[in-house]
Amino acid sequence: MGLSKDIGAHLFAGLAGLLATVRWGGKPRDCPRHNPAGLRDPGRLHYITGMIRPILIHPDPRLKKVCDPVVEITDEVRRLADEMLETMYDAPGIGLAAPQVGVMRRVVVMDCVKDPALPARPIVLVNPEVLWRSEELSTYEEGCLSIPEQYAEISRPAEVRVRWTALDGSPQDEQFAGLWATCVQHEIDHLDGKLFIDYLGPLKRQMITRKMEKLKRERARLGA
Ligand code: NI
Repeated sequence: MGLSKDIGAHLFAGLAGLLATVRWGGKPRDCPRHNPAGLRDPGRLHYITGMIRPILIHPDPRLKKVCDPVVEITDEVRRLADEMLETMYDAPGIGLAAPQVGVMRRVVVMDCVKDPALPARPIVLVNPEVLWRSEELSTYEEGCLSIPEQYAEISRPAEVRVRWTALDGSPQDEQFAGLWATCVQHEIDHLDGKLFIDYLGPLKRQMITRKMEKLKRERARLGA
């Protein structure tokens, strides 16, 4: 899940109201790349792979495909997860799905801790599944690392219960609320070839797609 227009933007602007609006992203304080102090924390060393993977930009056929389940958690999967976390923190973003780095497997990473006073909480979700969705909806301004600098308010269930497999192979089950709930749904959508712009009307979606095509042409011309 994407990054903010203005880093350090106001969070949960509408929290007291019916709509909670947030801008994604911001430089995570705990990313070792941005926080040299983190390098001294052995817990963070796990995330230093030195490998930032290129993030696919919409439109790309790989972002429209349904990903395959992970059948076994191998070293390759663990390395992928580490590289995805590092890529996400570097972007910066709060969530990233494997197809966004061109790997068609059901793996998601997230860290929606925005408050620099709180410890980071990187989570790796292998084969995540939504078990339950609340009837109540919440609306957030979403963005996506594969659709840079485009944002739209999207309504989704306010809370979801999700089951997944952790990297150590243990089954996990957690109810997410707030930004975490929106983010996990956004990322699981990626595993099913769905983007947040698919919730928009065709005109708005087409406008964003055209902007992304232009961005890709410009990047190709610059050799970026
Ligand atoms: Ni996304």
